[in-house]
Amino acid sequence: MGKKSKSSSSKEKKCSIDKTDDVGDEVVDAASSSNSKKMTMNEQIPPLEVSNEEYEELQSQVEDLSLHEAEMEWMESCRYGDVDVVRALVEKFPSLIHYCTTDNKNTGLHMASANGHVSVVKLLILGHHHPYSKNLAGNTPLHWAAANGQADVVDFLTTQTIVPIDVLAQNEFGRSALTEGFTSQKEQVVKSLLEHDSATEEKLLSTGKEIDHPTDLAEHVHHFFNPQTPLKIRELAMKNADNPFADTDRPDQDTTGLSIWSASLVIARWMQTKQDLWKDKSVLELGSGCGVPGLAIAAATTTCHPRHVYLTDLNPETVKNLQYNIELNQVQDFVTATCMDWSDQTTWPNERVDYLVGSDLIYQKSLVPLLSSVVWGTLKMGGTFFYVAPDTGRDGLDLFVQEMKSKCPGWKETVAPQEYHANPLINEDDEECFLHFQELSSFTYILYEFPLPPTLETKKV
Ligand SMILES: C[S@@+](CC[C@H](N)C(=O)[O-])C[C@H]1O[C@@H](n2cnc3c(N)ncnc32)[C@H](O)[C@@H]1O
Repeated sequence: MGKKSKSSSSKEKKCSIDKTDDVGDEVVDAASSSNSKKMTMNEQIPPLEVSNEEYEELQSQVEDLSLHEAEMEWMESCRYGDVDVVRALVEKFPSLIHYCTTDNKNTGLHMASANGHVSVVKLLILGHHHPYSKNLAGNTPLHWAAANGQADVVDFLTTQTIVPIDVLAQNEFGRSALTEGFTSQKEQVVKSLLEHDSATEEKLLSTGKEIDHPTDLAEHVHHFFNPQTPLKIRELAMKNADNPFADTDRPDQDTTGLSIWSASLVIARWMQTKQDLWKDKSVLELGSGCGVPGLAIAAATTTCHPRHVYLTDLNPETVKNLQYNIELNQVQDFVTATCMDWSDQTTWPNERVDYLVGSDLIYQKSLVPLLSSVVWGTLKMGGTFFYVAPDTGRDGLDLFVQEMKSKCPGWKETVAPQEYHANPLINEDDEECFLHFQELSSFTYILYEFPLPPTLETKKV
C-alpha cells in the first residue's frame, strides 16, 4: 500500500531485478506502435526501464510461475511500481488484467494508483485496457490516488480518454475521489479533479442531496486496540461529502464528525497511557465526532473509570451516533452524549470538568475564539486540556496553539511516537486501515498538553 515502504524482500523476489539501464523512448507494446502517432505524450505506453537482455531474463523467470504465483507477483509488482515485471507478467498471463483479490476486490490498478506508479498505471490502461472497477468498499483507483495525494496518477487518470471516470462517484462511505483529494491537501490533486468534466458545478450541488437521508448512510463498526476488550466504534458516511465542513454560519450542518479522523485514534492511544488520571474524575470531550478518545478513556478499565464522561458535538446526526457508540460499548452508566454548541453557553455541561480532550477541532480560523472560550469556560482551573492535531494543513491551528501556550505556562508539545501510528484495528487488516485512516500513516501528529493555571487571577475567561 501507499503508506508502506517498499520492503527489501521485493528485491529478492523471483522476478525482481536491478533496474540500471534506461532505453530512452522505446515503445515496446504492439498496441502502442500502431497508435503512438495519434497519442499525446501523456498517452504513450511507458518504455522498457530495463535493457533488452534483462527483460528477456524477466520473461524467462515469469515462464516458471504458476498462475497463483503470478497473481501474487502481479499485485506486488503493481504496488511497488515494477513496471517491467508487470509487463512481462501480463504478456504471459493476459488474464491478470482482470484479477482482483477475493476478500476486498482490489486490482493491480488500485495498487499502482495508490502508490503513485504512473508508468504502471499507463501500461495497464493504455497498453491493456485494464478495467476501472470499484473495490468492495466502493473505492476506484482514483479514490486511492487522490487519498494518497498521488498528483501524477490523478493527472493521468483525469486526462486520459480510454476509461470513463467520475470524480464525484462515491464509495460506501459517501466519499468521492474529490473528497479524498481535498483531504489529501495536495493542491495539484484537487486542481486536476476539479478540472475534470465530471466535476461540474451542477453535479457538485446535487451530490449532497443524493445522500441526504439517514437511511442512505453506509455504516461500519470498527474494533480497535485490544483484542480481548475491543473498543467498538460505528462510523457513518459524511453527508454532503464534497463540503462536509458546511458553511461557517451553519456549523450544526458540519458532518465531519460522522467519520473517524485519524487524530482521534492517536489521542485515544495517548489517553490509554494515562489511566491513573481518570478515577472518579469528570472528562469532557469536545467535538467528539464518533467518540473514539472519550470512549477509550471510559472503556479502558472497569475499576478506575471516570465519574462522568461527557461526549459532545453540535451536529444532531453525530450526537445520535455517539449515543449508539456509548451503548455499543456498554458504558451508558457514566457516559452521556449531548448536543453542545461552543458558541452557546447554555448547551455546556453544568459543572466545570477535571479534564478536557479533543482531536482535530480547528480547521478554520473562525473556530479559534470559540474553542478558546469553551476551554476557559468548561475546565476547572488546574485541570488539563489534552489536544491532538496534525502538524500541518489546519487553518487557525497555529493561532490557537499560540494563544493556549501564552495562557498555560506549563504547556507541553510532543510529536506522537511511531507506535501511535500503528494499525489500530484488532483484525490487523492493513487494507481496511488504509481505506479508512489514510492520514494515520502519512501525517505527523502533535500531542498538546495545556494545564490551566491553578487560579483564575491573571486569566481572561
Ligand atoms: C474534524 S471533526 C473531528 C471529530 C473528532 N474529534 C475526530 O477527531 O474524529 C470536527 C468536529 O468538531 C465539531 N464542531 C465543529 N464546530 C462545532 C461547534 N461550534 N460546536 C461543537 N462542535 C463543533 C464537528 O461537528 C465535528 O464533529
